[in-house]
Amino acid sequence: MCGIIGIVGQRDVAARLVDGLRRMEYRGYDSAGICTAHDGQLLRRRAEGKLVGLVNELAQNPASGSTGIAHTRWATHGAPVEKNAHPHATEHVALVHNGIIENFKELRDELRADGRTFESETDTEVVVHLISRRIEQGLAPEDAVAEVLPRLRGAFALAIVFRDHPDMLIGARLGSPLVVGYGEGEMYLGSDALALAPLTQQIAYLEEGDWVTITRDSATIRDLDGNTVERAVQESGATAAMIEKGNYNHFMQKEIFEQPTVVAQTLRSYLRPGEQRVALPQIDFDISSIDRVTIVACGTSYYAAMVAKYWFEQFARVPVDIDFASEFRYREPVLTKGGLALFISQSGETADTLAALRHCREQGQVIAAVVNVPTSSMAREADLLLPTHAGPEIGVASTKAFTCQLAVLAALSAHFAVKKGLMDREEEAEVVKHLLEAPACLNAALDHDEDIAAMAHLIAPARDVLYLGRGADFPLALEGALKLKEISYIHAEGYASGEMKHGPIALIDDSVPVIVLAPSGPLFDKTVSNMQEVQARGGKVVLISDAKGIAQAGEDCMAVIEMPKVHPLIAPLVYAVPVQLLAYHVAVAKGTDVDQPRNLAKSVTVE
Ligand code: F6R
Repeated sequence: MCGIIGIVGQRDVAARLVDGLRRMEYRGYDSAGICTAHDGQLLRRRAEGKLVGLVNELAQNPASGSTGIAHTRWATHGAPVEKNAHPHATEHVALVHNGIIENFKELRDELRADGRTFESETDTEVVVHLISRRIEQGLAPEDAVAEVLPRLRGAFALAIVFRDHPDMLIGARLGSPLVVGYGEGEMYLGSDALALAPLTQQIAYLEEGDWVTITRDSATIRDLDGNTVERAVQESGATAAMIEKGNYNHFMQKEIFEQPTVVAQTLRSYLRPGEQRVALPQIDFDISSIDRVTIVACGTSYYAAMVAKYWFEQFARVPVDIDFASEFRYREPVLTKGGLALFISQSGETADTLAALRHCREQGQVIAAVVNVPTSSMAREADLLLPTHAGPEIGVASTKAFTCQLAVLAALSAHFAVKKGLMDREEEAEVVKHLLEAPACLNAALDHDEDIAAMAHLIAPARDVLYLGRGADFPLALEGALKLKEISYIHAEGYASGEMKHGPIALIDDSVPVIVLAPSGPLFDKTVSNMQEVQARGGKVVLISDAKGIAQAGEDCMAVIEMPKVHPLIAPLVYAVPVQLLAYHVAVAKGTDVDQPRNLAKSVTVE
């Protein structure tokens, strides 16, 4: 979602601000802007659409100044047009905002009654007026900000620049991330460490309610109550190279191909191959006493939760509830003491998932989080952090984070079973063996990239596509449909294959391709029967299976995609590859913006 960068520097900052925005493009946005403080003026430049619009605007109307802020906006309140683009400004103050000010209407009414006029439809503009009003009344910037922040309800990360104080910026965070970067004679604000990667590796992560004043050589951080606080400065480890495409055409493609490596990297933290044991990070609660698991997540991470439910129930015989984070709190879930609440998130910042985590903490649940960004809010707030080691995921469509989540969840479910006395050493060794096979099987699946690219033209013209799977492959059908929808804009649905005849089969005709995920194994015959019901009605099937499955059932299919023969435990990891590649190649064939699909944001930090 919205990206923020701010620099208090020693020379003109506009070019570096735009560079910072470029590094945050992956977050998703629909307009962009910058504002510098220079020579007693605030110089604001904004443009709708991609960054090239802002670059052209700056070429025509350069903005000098060694202090400035910049923003990529993902529209929430008000259309993605220039007047709604950030920064919002008065003569005295300009600011950029990530999040939502929930009480903006009442604040706007108050400000209007005070004679102030608004030029945008955004919730953000009230903040700039509230601060500006106090400054116009003679307050110093810090006093004005200290007075206004407690009046804001909702979520925000803010970066604020002041006309009459061109050597400082103020940043604030509540609910949306913001980091402080420490440079050589320069200081920075950013939505994440990656945004600041070429500028500095020295990062302090603001905590909830913190706000900060930065000058060229200092950062003064205060908490919600205005007390000065210290936040550790850490080496971020983020490098500019992490957000480069290398030889790939798209980040999504690069990230699909990274999966064998990052899954192996993730498994290294959860398995002890020599001893054939599953090994989790130090757990300071008794996992064997957990009698119920609640898993909460959104989107692709939710589909990882669906797969995990099969594993937890099958191995550890523990009942599992799963829920979309956006629904979870509002259905008043019954959470009994002694339950484990598990949150799955690539970013660790998804607003709904984070709110659900906090709700579960209030309800006395033990909190575990499977998270890819180790410095994220969820990572910091969990009792048990189970990191995925996928590295930065830049493509908006999640790929490598998903397979790494599955790797962690498979290990966790086995560990759970061992602790409950439901998995003996021999069975544990089997699980370890199969998980260790996953990277090689992912590589073998990737070998079919060219075949999949060659058949993308069969899917690209379709208006609707169905995906079918059974058991732990059913969530993969949902994931395949989500991938196709989000990057190729083709309407797609995933169904449990046995559900077809209960309604969706009415959709079948020869214009609706049906992608069937059917690894040979215990559920193969049943899935193939459902596939044949589709074919009997003129449905055009793409069968994704192994050589044995294809030999048995591939004959009348429009196309087949061959996967290596895999153990059912790792089938969801391996079968993720063909659905990702299929969506990718269809999107490329259609010429859509693969890495930044329309309307989508990478990290959804508003509810
Ligand atoms: C789909 C996708 C989204 C995310 C969802 C949750 O490709 O990327 O559906 O999975 O927004 O995000 P995280 O995992 O960051 O909580």
